[in-house]
Formats: sequence, structure tokens, C-alpha cells
Amino acid sequence: MTDIPAPAPAAEFWEARYRDTDRVWSGRPNELLVREASDLTPGTALDLGCGEGADAVWLASRGWRVTGVDISGTALERAAGHADEAGVGNRVAWERHELGRSFPEGSFDLVSAHYLQSPVALDQRAVLDAAARAVAGGGSLLVVMHAGWPSWQTEPPFDAVFPTLDGVLAELALPDGGWTVETSRTVRRPSVSPDGLEGFREDNVWRLRRA
Ligand SMILES: C[S@@+](CC[C@H](N)C(=O)[O-])C[C@H]1O[C@@H](n2cnc3c(N)ncnc32)[C@H](O)[C@@H]1O
Repeated sequence: MTDIPAPAPAAEFWEARYRDTDRVWSGRPNELLVREASDLTPGTALDLGCGEGADAVWLASRGWRVTGVDISGTALERAAGHADEAGVGNRVAWERHELGRSFPEGSFDLVSAHYLQSPVALDQRAVLDAAARAVAGGGSLLVVMHAGWPSWQTEPPFDAVFPTLDGVLAELALPDGGWTVETSRTVRRPSVSPDGLEGFREDNVWRLRRA
């Protein structure tokens, strides 16, 4: 009898999250992607933790050739459907990876990771390392992460460590002269709770350019 390895808990968690509901995310590209990537010259892009594909579809519609990566096959199927609907299916490739354990081949003019944060195992340091290594010469690394819980969240749903601006730059340990930090800042955005309570949430944004 052949032993079949048990699926990793992270994959189970995210697969269940997507299977539980028809649509998890808004379908709109992330505001901070639009803000930070609109002035970049389209080339090849890698979207890490692409979810249902809104960012990848937006990039593809602006002329990028995109590889979208996620741990959830259901999310990737939906993402591919959205890309076809938007008429850019031929500009996006989808790859399933558990980042931290495997990573797409190749180098890219833009490596983008938006809210690649998880209540279950995710080796963010390893992913950021691999992400930086995957940026082509002259290319950009764009990382956006929540800096804390929304202001209306009185009871955090789980323990989380939110990465700080300096913490991520220190973890990346990029060689002097090899990179320029173009953006490293905290952005406050309006946020509404599921019950309609208005508040805000802060996100950290890093955009780095490889020499
Ligand atoms: C908070 S969601 C963000 C989705 C999308 N980037 C967005 O901004 O709407 C995190 C995404 O990362 C994916 N993810 C979590 N851990 C992962 C891992 N180890 N490897 C690949 N994808 C992962 C999840 O399936 C989910 O789609």
C-alpha cells in the first residue's frame, strides 16, 4: 500500500475558506497596488497569494504578463475564470504553491505580495527572501501587509504578529547598493466592520527597486 502524505494544514485551511463561500474578496484590485504599480512599465509580474485574482487581472489588463500563485486550487480556478471574463486569460499563468515550501521558477520585473498573511503556518521570512531573489535587475518588489487589526476590532480573532516597516526591511537584509527603498510607509484606510461600524485600518507598504 502506498502512503499518501496528509495535506498540509495551511492548504486545508485556505481551501476550506474559499470553498465555504462563492466569493471571498471584492473582485477589485487592491488600492495600494493601483497606487504603487500604475507608474511601472509593464513587463513580467508575479503575484504571491493572488487569491481570486483581482490584482493579477488588473496587472494583465495593463499589459503585464502575470503569474498568479496561491495555495488554494479553488481560489486559482476562480481567478482563472475572472481573467477569462476580463479577456486577459492568455496573459496570466496560475501556479499552485505552498509558499515557504515551494516557489515559482524564474525572475520577474515586478514581484507583488498583498496581504500574504495567514492565521495558519506561513514562513513569511522565507517567502520574502525568495520574493526578493525573484526580482529581475531593474525590477520592483512590492509588499503590502496589514499593520494591525481594524480600529473596530475589539476582540482579535486570533493571535497575530503584524510586521513593522523596519522589521521587514531588516529581515530582508538586502545588500547595500543592490536595492533602493522607494516606499516604506504606513497608510491608514477607511474600514467598515461586517456590522457596518465605521473605522480605519493601517497597512504597511514597501516598494523596493533592484539595481
Ligand atoms: C489575506 S489573503 C490575500 C489575497 C489577495 N492577495 C488579496 O489581497 O485580496 C491571503 C492569500 O494568501 C494565500 N496563502 C496563504 N498562505 C499561503 C502559502 N503558504 N502559499 C501560497 N498562498 C498562500 C491564501 O490562500 C489567500 O488567497
